Amino acid sequence: MKARLQISQSTYLIGSGKGGVGKSTVAVNLAVALAKKGLAVGLLDADLYGPSIPIMMGLRRLTPHIDVDYKGEETITPFYKFGVKIASLGFFMEEARSIVWRGPMLHGTLQKFIQNVFWGHLDVLLIDLPPGTGDVPLSLSQLLHIDGALVVSTPQEVAILDVIKVLNAFHQLEIPLIGLIENMAPFIAPDTGLKYALFGEGKVAELAQRFETSLLGSIPFNPMTRVGGDEGLPVALHDNAAGAPFHFLAEQLLAYA
Ligand SMILES: Nc1ncnc2c1ncn2[C@@H]1O[C@H](COP(=O)(O)OP(=O)(O)O)[C@@H](O)[C@H]1O
Ligand SMILES: [Mg+2]
Repeated sequence: MKARLQISQSTYLIGSGKGGVGKSTVAVNLAVALAKKGLAVGLLDADLYGPSIPIMMGLRRLTPHIDVDYKGEETITPFYKFGVKIASLGFFMEEARSIVWRGPMLHGTLQKFIQNVFWGHLDVLLIDLPPGTGDVPLSLSQLLHIDGALVVSTPQEVAILDVIKVLNAFHQLEIPLIGLIENMAPFIAPDTGLKYALFGEGKVAELAQRFETSLLGSIPFNPMTRVGGDEGLPVALHDNAAGAPFHFLAEQLLAYA
């Protein structure tokens, strides 16, 4: 078997069963939170079906610098923003989300992209996956040395059922599970202090127990988190109510992984 590329000291996949559960939001904010702790952090957007890292990091419509050597080989310099080095196929293909990716083409594109990005020294690389159990985690597990997966879920029943499929798929790919992350946990209204469990409560913690893994963090639903994503200013830049859960998550990851 060919040697897998080791890009970073620790490389983690960020996966989910369903789309829209906040996987990219967690990836972006966890990356910023780790960078704020002084780590050299890379963030790779491997969601070929819906790359959203460029928007969430405020890099919309920008194209990274590419050097070409005398053999025609390209080197892509990642963007560096909020202390995080960032690479996304979304920078190169406006139409990425509408392409029908077939296995070999997907593998080739990912391989070329991964080989051409010059990351330099990294302590941690986070990889934002597409939702579900498709070809991307399979390809990545063949190309890269991966230390484990962080799996994001909302606490609702339909999300949990899909997470179980992902956990089984990662197990088959021999990708260790580092832990689960609950997103869109109950919202606490800042004016009244009342709790609203918009997407349910407690189910991700139960799942963690069942799979004998850790619940690394619980991120409450917070409208500021959504606004931060849309505006390209991750809430983890701040130490307020929206940012704090991501800082706690970063600490848990460093403690448990
Ligand atoms: N904790 C949260 N509170 C409020 N909105 C959130 C939260 N997490 C994610 N969102 C919003 O939900 C939407 C989907 O999140 P996203 O990270 O794109 O999901 P995924 O990558 O899993 O498809 C985005 O608009 C995002 O801003
Ligand atoms: Mg996403």
